[in-house]
Amino acid sequence: MLALSLQLGATAKAVAFVMAGRSLNDVLADGSVVKPDLRAGVQALSFAVLRNWGMARALRELLASREPMPPVDALLCTALALLVSEPDSGASYTDFTLVNQAVDAAKSHSKTRSSASFINATLRRFLRERETLMKQARQSEEAQYNHPQWWIDQMRREQPHKWQTILAANQMKPSLTLRVNLAKTTMSEFIAVLDEQGVAWHEADSALVQTKQDMACGLALQDAPPVTSLPHYAVGWFSVQDLAAQGAATQLLSDEFLFELVVRARQGHKIRVLDACAAPGGKTTHLIERLLQAFAHAGMPVLSGDDWGKHFEVIALEVDAKRAKRIHENLSRLKQRAIVKITDAANLASWWDGTPFDAVLLDAPCTASGIVRRHPDVRWLRRESDATAMGHIQLAMLQALWATLRTQGRLLYATCSVFETEGGVVKQRFLQANGNAKALDSHGLWLPSLQHDGFYDALFDKTAD
Ligand SMILES: C[S@@+](CC[C@H](N)C(=O)[O-])C[C@H]1O[C@@H](n2cnc3c(N)ncnc32)[C@H](O)[C@@H]1O
Repeated sequence: MLALSLQLGATAKAVAFVMAGRSLNDVLADGSVVKPDLRAGVQALSFAVLRNWGMARALRELLASREPMPPVDALLCTALALLVSEPDSGASYTDFTLVNQAVDAAKSHSKTRSSASFINATLRRFLRERETLMKQARQSEEAQYNHPQWWIDQMRREQPHKWQTILAANQMKPSLTLRVNLAKTTMSEFIAVLDEQGVAWHEADSALVQTKQDMACGLALQDAPPVTSLPHYAVGWFSVQDLAAQGAATQLLSDEFLFELVVRARQGHKIRVLDACAAPGGKTTHLIERLLQAFAHAGMPVLSGDDWGKHFEVIALEVDAKRAKRIHENLSRLKQRAIVKITDAANLASWWDGTPFDAVLLDAPCTASGIVRRHPDVRWLRRESDATAMGHIQLAMLQALWATLRTQGRLLYATCSVFETEGGVVKQRFLQANGNAKALDSHGLWLPSLQHDGFYDALFDKTAD
């Protein structure tokens, strides 16, 4: 096993990069920052550190009268964050092991070596005075809730009765949620295989994703084993997808709308579905699964080769070529087909042939403020003005894509944000600007909870002009 001191040193470096504005995923993938053999350990430690960074910074301010040099500060705050993290945080070391290893980490780097005794003394003082220091630190809301102050203030303004629950939910470790591929298997068949292999699971709530019981496909696993080790991953029996995200395809292609689409297909129309912001393809593949299932139920199965494209066509757009590769990988694992185009969805001239769509999904780029459980760096990376700026971009995309929808077609606008300016505000502005848009019932704002991420969705029907 790799020495903890090595992992602590690399974690401090990784977190310092995050605080300078780089996403944790980007930093972890950068071999010049985190060596590949340290990656898994550094990821687990970084998650725990980022979840406790507000408290760690406040403690460091109380413990050191002057701000230490950046590398020393990063290591000290990293160690403090781990000393205050929950026992199940992925950093379950005894206090003394952590302190000793942090001191060893300091000694092994030229930029921190001369401060090793300072780090040692400061951390040991923390252990002696922990209760008093933490009580004092909690006077700062940033320390108490481990989010930036502007974020706390905004949540309090927008959700006066729920803001504390939301901030607490952001601190939780998410479970691994799967979407069973009902075009390939059934819930009972997949569950039987999980049981055989001793994988603990519980069914996610089908009422949450608003679909009939026989089309419900969410399963949460208590532990998070490596996904590829789960049965039949390679042959596409399931995908990893949060429960709130599963609500997107089930609301756009609801049971009742799918029935209409099947009738339309019987009348000889090819059904056209657009996923405008598609990578890595989680929702594209779910849309396809629902179409496959609905056509199979109707006795019009789409089984293979030439049948694909007979009743429906799915187009997936993505502006980022690297991310678009992931759509192809997911389609191929699930043995599905879609037309993938690398382009700016809002620039219709670059990709649209003028044939209208029956259904459009705009899973828009956003601040990701709803997926802080899975990406604990997000809260420290965002700036106060970001949500409003993203809201403007989303409205412009929504407006452009509206033109591609046929009359009586449906569009679902979704974001994984909990800020109003990337949800309800965009919906209202869009409705005000488009007399032919009618809002249909949809889930709206999903606040993050133990069961799922934070998410927003609004469903529109296009009425005759
Ligand atoms: C929220 S993610 C989509 C997640 C995806 N729907 C899924 O469920 O797997 C938003 C995606 O939109 C892409 N994107 C951002 N701006 C875009 C644009 N103008 N046109 C097309 N894609 C865009 C981003 O690169 C990102 O991959």
